[in-house]
Amino acid sequence: MKLLWILRILLYVQTLLGLVRYFGPSVGLLLPPRLWETHISLGVIIALLAIYALRPRPEVPTTPIRTVARFLPLAPLALGLGFLAGLPTGPLVIVHMLLGLAAVGTVEMAAARQRRALSTASQK
Ligand code: HEM
Repeated sequence: MKLLWILRILLYVQTLLGLVRYFGPSVGLLLPPRLWETHISLGVIIALLAIYALRPRPEVPTTPIRTVARFLPLAPLALGLGFLAGLPTGPLVIVHMLLGLAAVGTVEMAAARQRRALSTASQK
């Protein structure tokens, strides 16, 4: 359960960094490069942590949402690494951000279902 908490917090930090990076310049807010670079390392940590924290567990049903949440962070990571490798950003940044937000949403759903499944199991 602790790992899922960490994963959720990292996803919110990641979203905040991404939103400030994208919308900040229009209101004069520029992220220091060092701080922005954590978006890359956090991206790798998030993708690996999601695969581990949402692994199949006997007391938690393996629903499609859980499986999607487990692997979805790999999609914005792949696109983000593509940007670093020279892929033109443009509209793909919007796709990247939507994939990131979808990862936040599905991880939230999977975490809530795990919490419910574990509390039902502990009442038996
Ligand atoms: C699991 C979630 C995410 C992962 C793994 C991820 C990963 C990455 C990576 C590796 C890059 C390339 C870094 C660079 O260009 O220096 C990147 C760029 C970016 N990401 Fe994310 N990201 C995620 C979520 C988000 C979210 C939720 C947002 C905003 C809502 C966002 C906004 C951005 C922006 C604006 C860029 C810069 C694109 C550019 O170079 O102009 N990311 N991301």
